[in-house]
Amino acid sequence: MQHIVILISGAGSNMAAIARAAQRERGPEPPPRGLGARVAAVISNRPDAGGLRVAAELGIATAVVDHKTFASREAFDAALMQAIDAHAPALVVLAGFMRVLTPGFVAHYAGRLVNIHPSLLPAFPGLHTHQRAIDEGCKLAGATVHRVTTELDRGDILAQAAVPVLPGDTAEALAARVQTQEHLIYPRAVADLLRTS
Ligand code: GAR
Repeated sequence: MQHIVILISGAGSNMAAIARAAQRERGPEPPPRGLGARVAAVISNRPDAGGLRVAAELGIATAVVDHKTFASREAFDAALMQAIDAHAPALVVLAGFMRVLTPGFVAHYAGRLVNIHPSLLPAFPGLHTHQRAIDEGCKLAGATVHRVTTELDRGDILAQAAVPVLPGDTAEALAARVQTQEHLIYPRAVADLLRTS
């Protein structure tokens, strides 16, 4: 059984969607598409990330590598790599992990590092994607699963889902609509990658 490690900074709803897909496969009624992997650990850079509790409730090992306790990005990434590599993961899954990674980190996981971003990349890399889509008058918004490169929110696109931007939408309402799609496309994309890697 392959292992994956999921990195989070916040609520962890994408992490939970992937973890539930992994656990369903172990039950008596397999879904049409199982994940084919075990979530070996969920690691957060924030001790207060809500997703840590969610992961623990799902029976998954958790760890915190607090970026605030390191003097440099390099030192933080080195500690993070050590925590990840203890689980020998086939894939490292960024799920709302809000840290810019060093080139050394990205190179270390070349071909094994994926992210989900809350926009239809290459539109709206960076932060505040939903408000920016509303401000630009976009009729569609969405989410993208992509390989991670040293360029922020760039890399081969593996999956996308689009949702309508509705009249009067707030960033929060649009984010919630996008997230329901994220929870569908991310587990599928991870499963596809694990099958083909
Ligand atoms: C998700 O919507 C994800 O697309 C976004 O953070 C949210 C995390 O939610 N990621 C980024 O903005 C990365 N640049 P979650 O913690 O509930 O999965």
